[in-house]
Amino acid sequence: MNDNTPRRVEHQQTDKGYVPVYTTGIVEQQWDNYTATEHSTWATLFKRQWELLQDRACPEFLEGVQTLGMTPDKIPRFADLNKQLRDATDWKLVAVEGLLPELVFFDHLAKRRFPVTWWIRRPDQLDYIAEPDLFHDLLGHVPLLMNPVFADYMQHYGLGGVKASGVGDQALIQLSRLYWYTVEFGLIRSKAGLRIYGSGILSSSGESIYSLDSAAPNRFGFDLERIMRTRYRIDTFQKSYFVIDSFEQLFESTVPDFRPIYAGIKDQPEFAAGEVLDSDNVIQRGSGEGWTTDGDF
Ligand code: PHE
Ligand code: CO
Repeated sequence: MNDNTPRRVEHQQTDKGYVPVYTTGIVEQQWDNYTATEHSTWATLFKRQWELLQDRACPEFLEGVQTLGMTPDKIPRFADLNKQLRDATDWKLVAVEGLLPELVFFDHLAKRRFPVTWWIRRPDQLDYIAEPDLFHDLLGHVPLLMNPVFADYMQHYGLGGVKASGVGDQALIQLSRLYWYTVEFGLIRSKAGLRIYGSGILSSSGESIYSLDSAAPNRFGFDLERIMRTRYRIDTFQKSYFVIDSFEQLFESTVPDFRPIYAGIKDQPEFAAGEVLDSDNVIQRGSGEGWTTDGDF
């Protein structure tokens, strides 16, 4: 059999625990094959987040969703979104089957292509799924690609990834923490107060509330080196969030060559996900309520 039906590639659960599975190719979205259940999963998730995010997401995100024309009624067609993206920032979505190896991912970003998982979670996974699916990728990541400054940041991150892989494994880990604490779990100050821009928060109803309202987590001002040395949580809400003042600040502080930074922090200690340092710009010190002590990544 050799049709080009894309596969739904998920992690494997083994006696060694969670094992991610990677694929490399680009596939077709095959929009006509989505079932009514899949469209309705999108609708349920989209409506819930759209309502929740009105006064929680940054204005750039809300504007991006609207300009892209995302609505609850149907899973968006990547080809339609691509028209808007091309006009706004010259980014392009490509459909993939699941997680990509780091270098393949960096190469896409460096060329202003954003990989989006073609399949959506099952109805029993509405509140939590261990890996990125179409809902996380589309609602979480794509609206901000309509913002010129954030769009440039994403491309430079990809270029930085290619460079970091030439430096070594430690540099790659340090760079991936930057992605985690900004692209996935970042908060931003807006005129109206603290807002969300991280995709991992934007696509999670629980964390959309927790990240802004809970007294448990730390909230620190953005600090590049500090972030690069900070471990993170992959299976629970974050213990610490980093807050940027603007996307310009984010871009300007990350555009310099990271090689001297990697060299400078090479032998420096790392920080636990929930740790607070004397040198931190503390916006809010977390109460630590409900934290588990094991399992920083
Ligand atoms: N300036 C970074 C480097 O030299 C690249 C980068 C830019 C990384 C923007 C992240 C975001 O590696
Ligand atoms: Co993501």
